[in-house]
Amino acid sequence: MSNEIPITQCLNWKLGFENSFVIGAWRLGITMNKDLLTIKDLTAKEIEELFSLTDKLKRNKARFSKVLAGKALALVFQKPSNRTRVSFEVGMFQLGGNSLYLSPGEISLGIRESIADVARTLSRFVDGIVLRTFEHKNCEDLARFSGIPVINGLSDFSHPCQALADLYTIREKLKAFKGVTLAYVGDGNNVCNSLLFICAKLGVNVNLGCPKGYEPLAAVLKDSRAIGDTTGAAINLFNDASSAVKDADVIYTDVWTSMGQEDEARKRIEVFEDFQVNMNLVKSAKRGALIMHCLPAHRGQEITDEVIESGNSVVFDEAENRMHVQKAVLIKLLGR
Ligand code: CP
Ligand code: NVA
Repeated sequence: MSNEIPITQCLNWKLGFENSFVIGAWRLGITMNKDLLTIKDLTAKEIEELFSLTDKLKRNKARFSKVLAGKALALVFQKPSNRTRVSFEVGMFQLGGNSLYLSPGEISLGIRESIADVARTLSRFVDGIVLRTFEHKNCEDLARFSGIPVINGLSDFSHPCQALADLYTIREKLKAFKGVTLAYVGDGNNVCNSLLFICAKLGVNVNLGCPKGYEPLAAVLKDSRAIGDTTGAAINLFNDASSAVKDADVIYTDVWTSMGQEDEARKRIEVFEDFQVNMNLVKSAKRGALIMHCLPAHRGQEITDEVIESGNSVVFDEAENRMHVQKAVLIKLLGR
């Protein structure tokens, strides 16, 4: 990287101390792809950098209160949300920027207007877009036609912001990645896919316990195992919950019926019956194993009240970390 000190130094002077980290990171060549659509968009080094920035954001909120002053973030949501919407809106506010929530009825992505036209129009008004959608291809199309960063706030394929918050939470609680085993019990869905990629990149072993026919896509298993081969992370697939959970350091689960699958709810309750995270299952894991869930939880289905309310449950720290990690993502993507 060439030494453009005069320009960046001027910018640092002009924008003040709060912005110097952003400019500094940019000068050091710490760059990310334009968009964050899946965890595969990030290298392990970039994830670690996001986590160290998250540490700073958690320690000293005031220092970053103007870094995104004058910037606006559009939240285009085709599905309901509590955590994703609120954490992005409040996160943007805490960084000095603004956000606009655009509900399914307003934008009607691809119905009222093509994705390409939505992308090109929003790119003239705002500085970044968070999209919560069904087909992952919608994220890719929006990103392709946008001149501004697009962040996937959940698609049927992936939920990268969730996985970042999850691994940040594990780092906070266990102070390590290597040698840690995460047991994911339930549906091989969007959350599971993102966990597989991030765990493989950071060297965390994953034991999957999924019913037959509800495993992650073969391509996701293949890709995450290939990444795991380079970091030492083992990815094991079981078709029963207790084998997956045996000696695990973390037990993670998600809903049996994801948004958009409501028609299959009855069938899924039968299929996943033996995949409930209950006290009996937890006994097979290491003593003190962390209990994680992306939320919303369907208590009495994928997890019991007793487990989610137990002393080892970190689900609300995990939810809170959504905002801290996403603030780091916003600084990296919108702050340049
Ligand atoms: N975990 C998560 O994404 O929650 P919401 O669906 O409430 O945003
Ligand atoms: N798998 C769930 C995650 C919710 C945060 C869904 O897609 O509905």
